[in-house]
Amino acid sequence: MTKKRIGVLISGRGSNLQALIDAAEDPDYPAKIVLVISNVAGAQGLARADAAGIPTLTISHKDYSSRESFDTAITEALEDAGAELLCNAGFMRLHSESFVRHWWNRHLNIHPSLLPDFKGLDTHARVLEAGEKITGCTVHFVRPEMDTGPIVAQAEVPVLPGDTPETLATRVLEAEHRLYPHALRLVASGAVHVEGEAVVGTAL
Ligand code: GRF
Repeated sequence: MTKKRIGVLISGRGSNLQALIDAAEDPDYPAKIVLVISNVAGAQGLARADAAGIPTLTISHKDYSSRESFDTAITEALEDAGAELLCNAGFMRLHSESFVRHWWNRHLNIHPSLLPDFKGLDTHARVLEAGEKITGCTVHFVRPEMDTGPIVAQAEVPVLPGDTPETLATRVLEAEHRLYPHALRLVASGAVHVEGEAVVGTAL
């Protein structure tokens, strides 16, 4: 099996990165992480990649005068590493449209809600305020508008009485850690692909 070469973009804790690292340890997993890039020096996720022997880079947006030049530096580093697919895992910068076009249908993101509901930040607090009884998480292909794009996979998570944004975030995060490796497997193996603006194919 030829494994797809994956780049991962992070800004912080990197628990979703860890879930991908753990999944990719399986010899039968169709993807291999070849580079982790953080825009934040010292991000916890960088230590996770180091511990797994995965090359890392810090590319700080503060060192670039424009979003485009920052994004170009990221693409160059990814291409030097031979990355074929890109996964955002808690990456907290918006991308330029040219970056999104460059990685079109080769670029995944995970968001902690059932998209298209609750795009953006502070998801869990807004879910609680709205009185939702079910929330969840979504892995989708990246499009220029934030938290939109063809959906690869979703998982539902119950909202329980007494939940705070923190308890709900913890429950959703556990689902994220199962969903992201599953969704990446679907894409990397070629089991699913984008047709029009929908993801079609076989759920493994
Ligand atoms: C996750 O909840 C993810 O859905 C969101 O940012 C958080 C990142 O957490 N995009 P981690 O860095 O993967 O632990």
